[in-house]
Amino acid sequence: MWGGRFSAGPDAIMEAINASIGYDQKMARQDIEGSRAHAAMLAARGIISDSDARAIREGLLTVLSEIETGAFEFSAALEDIHMNVEARLTALVGPAAGRLHTARSRNDQVATDFRLWVRGQMDAAIEGLSALMQAFVAQAEAGADMVMPGFTHLQVAQPVTWGHHMMAYVEMFARDRSRFIDARARMNESPLGAAALAGTSFPIDREMTADALGFERPMANSLDAVSDRDFALEFLASCSICATHISRIAEELVIWSSAQFRFVTISDRFSTGSSIMPQKKNPDAAELLRAKVGRINGSLIALLTIMKGLPLAYSKDMQEDKEQVFDAADSLMLSLAALTGMVADMRPNPAPLRLAAASGFSTATDLADWLVRALNMPFRDAHHVTGALVKMAEDQGVDLHELSLAQMQSVEPSIGEAVYEVLGVDNSVASRTSYGGTAPAQVKAQIARWRESLK
Ligand code: ARG
Repeated sequence: MWGGRFSAGPDAIMEAINASIGYDQKMARQDIEGSRAHAAMLAARGIISDSDARAIREGLLTVLSEIETGAFEFSAALEDIHMNVEARLTALVGPAAGRLHTARSRNDQVATDFRLWVRGQMDAAIEGLSALMQAFVAQAEAGADMVMPGFTHLQVAQPVTWGHHMMAYVEMFARDRSRFIDARARMNESPLGAAALAGTSFPIDREMTADALGFERPMANSLDAVSDRDFALEFLASCSICATHISRIAEELVIWSSAQFRFVTISDRFSTGSSIMPQKKNPDAAELLRAKVGRINGSLIALLTIMKGLPLAYSKDMQEDKEQVFDAADSLMLSLAALTGMVADMRPNPAPLRLAAASGFSTATDLADWLVRALNMPFRDAHHVTGALVKMAEDQGVDLHELSLAQMQSVEPSIGEAVYEVLGVDNSVASRTSYGGTAPAQVKAQIARWRESLK
């Protein structure tokens, strides 16, 4: 393809380091789509004949079907997907194929292919996240009134509901989804027609190819068009944050499914046994979900490092962009699918959740708030009185609601019977009616809002 000025072929090691066909064949469909749009535009502008364009466009469909059926033989000597496709096209349609690369370079070609590929993965991520959010909403709906402990520092803090906890993840994954939506809108411009770096002297129509490929507009600067990989970086950054969220629920599932917690039962479909300990049921899928963020972050850091300090415009360094993005995309899509299945299947266990919710004087704040509300005590004093009552209960090995009224009055004489109404965990969660709070009424309103918007 570029042999004109060379008298010897490349060294075998040169071929090994140079070739990208081992992985960029993943973009075959996008490469052919881009070339078909380019050929149609060249003909529309009278740069090539209609009959050549027709031969090229039909030949490219034949190449695509050969690739998709596995009949295509990829060659490392032909470096990459672009030259593999073009060589095969030449074999199929003859000299007309030689006109396809008019007013184009592999630099704008690869930028176009890769953008199309990444755009497709952004769409897949958006769809996968919607499905995941729906699974969380369904869990929230089923357990909107189910009490469980809310933690800070992984110490029981205040009672919350299962529904509230599930809906926290809906908010997190909704932000992830919006990051992909934003990035998609920003990246949806066409580099095609930037040619090698400076544009071209042929009278091309960049609007036409942009339109045919579903881009909003052509990129406005040809140097930027061939040297930009922000779209890949934004994709990876969005994947990283999403994978971070996945690792957090994964970690909770590992903890919650342990015999010490028994908060949830993970379905057999997403668990494994031990080859030596017959009693074991391990949360392997959750552990792998917790781990995937490692390689996804690795991909982001790798590409940031590859791009750092690159002078304009194209440099071959940029060929190293693809494996990082391919691996991260595969990891994220698999993670989203696995997590969606696990969340849909898992069963919360109400009894251990309730028991744990009531443990560790989790309604102490309710008591302090009640002292403020009912007795008009300053919060600092209420905090002190409550602390004294917690100490008394702790010394006697009982929970707060098990202290008698006389015992409470020995600390604060004006406490009355009504105090017991705020001490149970159900009373506690029902009272947190502030916007975004854990009261079932609040959580149900959020569920309804998301149900509507996820339709
Ligand atoms: N395989 C190359 C890549 O992925 C295609 C672009 C090659 N361009 C060049 N000027 N050698 O980046």
